[in-house]
Amino acid sequence: MASKGRVFSGARPTGRQHLGNYLGAIKNYVALQKDYDCIYCIVDLHALTTLDTTQNLRENTYEMALDWLAAGIDPQKTILFVQSNVPEVTELHTILSMVTPLGKLTDLPTFKEKIRENPNNINYGLVGYPVLMSADILLYKANAVPVGVDQAPHIEFAREVVRTFNHRYNTNVLVEPEMKVTEVPKVLGIDGKNKMSKSLDNHIEIAATPEETLQRVMKMVTDPARQRRSDPGNPDVCNVFTLHKVFSSPEEVEMVNRECRRAGIGCVEDKQLFAKNLNAALAPFREKRAELGRNPDYVFDVLRDGAKRARVIAQQTMAEVRAAIGLF
Ligand code: AMP
Ligand code: TRP
Repeated sequence: MASKGRVFSGARPTGRQHLGNYLGAIKNYVALQKDYDCIYCIVDLHALTTLDTTQNLRENTYEMALDWLAAGIDPQKTILFVQSNVPEVTELHTILSMVTPLGKLTDLPTFKEKIRENPNNINYGLVGYPVLMSADILLYKANAVPVGVDQAPHIEFAREVVRTFNHRYNTNVLVEPEMKVTEVPKVLGIDGKNKMSKSLDNHIEIAATPEETLQRVMKMVTDPARQRRSDPGNPDVCNVFTLHKVFSSPEEVEMVNRECRRAGIGCVEDKQLFAKNLNAALAPFREKRAELGRNPDYVFDVLRDGAKRARVIAQQTMAEVRAAIGLF
């Protein structure tokens, strides 16, 4: 049995996952199963804060769960569930909202970014997004939370909520979580500039076909200063090179590093090589995904069973929280 503590993470149901999700989060979800009791959650309530993620919830939940399972999440040991199937989280959200100063929420860089992106839908839930996220983590008394680095302000927020709550009610029922990042905590998109994300359409899906993958890779922006094939390039500022380091052999990484700098290899060849290695690395995952996809009921069964197991823990924590506050 795992023993280093409990891990919790969540992600909004955005459907098929991209390389950013995979390298920034999913790889860690899978690796941490070895030493921790893990709980992974598809946060459908969080998805309701923005209009685009409110569409096709059921299909997006299914596609995402399929990616996670095919990537190596093992539902025998790990709990995999959908947030809204464990309604205790909404009660904890309400309770935590009463120990949260409003200014702290509106000051968060993640909130400012969201209102910039969604000027026509600045809703109450969007302000409370980090409170609901804290409730997710604290309901399961998670010690560690694997996420991409974009989530750092939210994890720090959750830690502060724990301290305020425990202090106000003179208790220690809530546990301060720590953030865990991978070696690539922020993956850039094919524009080579912004964080890889579906909303910017600069992403590469891990479940794409080899042909689609090659097409997207060929659009990747490399060293912007390298205009012609005969110009030497700088791998240090090239997003393709960053990803080569993850997916290509040390010999190839060394070759690309050397040859790019003296214009011995062009960006086209370089990207073809990268796409080949990326497709090879993802082939076992894609095969497993196709196999699991032949039996959709399996995925729904996993999620139902996960919710049942999660709910036992959630109800226990809520009993302790209510007692600590002195709710009647
Ligand atoms: P999202 O799809 O935005 O809900 O993110 C799900 C998880 O993937 C979170 O842990 C994010 O931090 C992580 N993630 C999303 N995009 C990236 C990216 N471009 N680089 C690294 N991690 C990411
Ligand atoms: N805010 C996270 C994101 O946008 C998703 C999330 C919700 C989450 N609840 C969580 C992540 C709990 C970790 C733990 O990606």
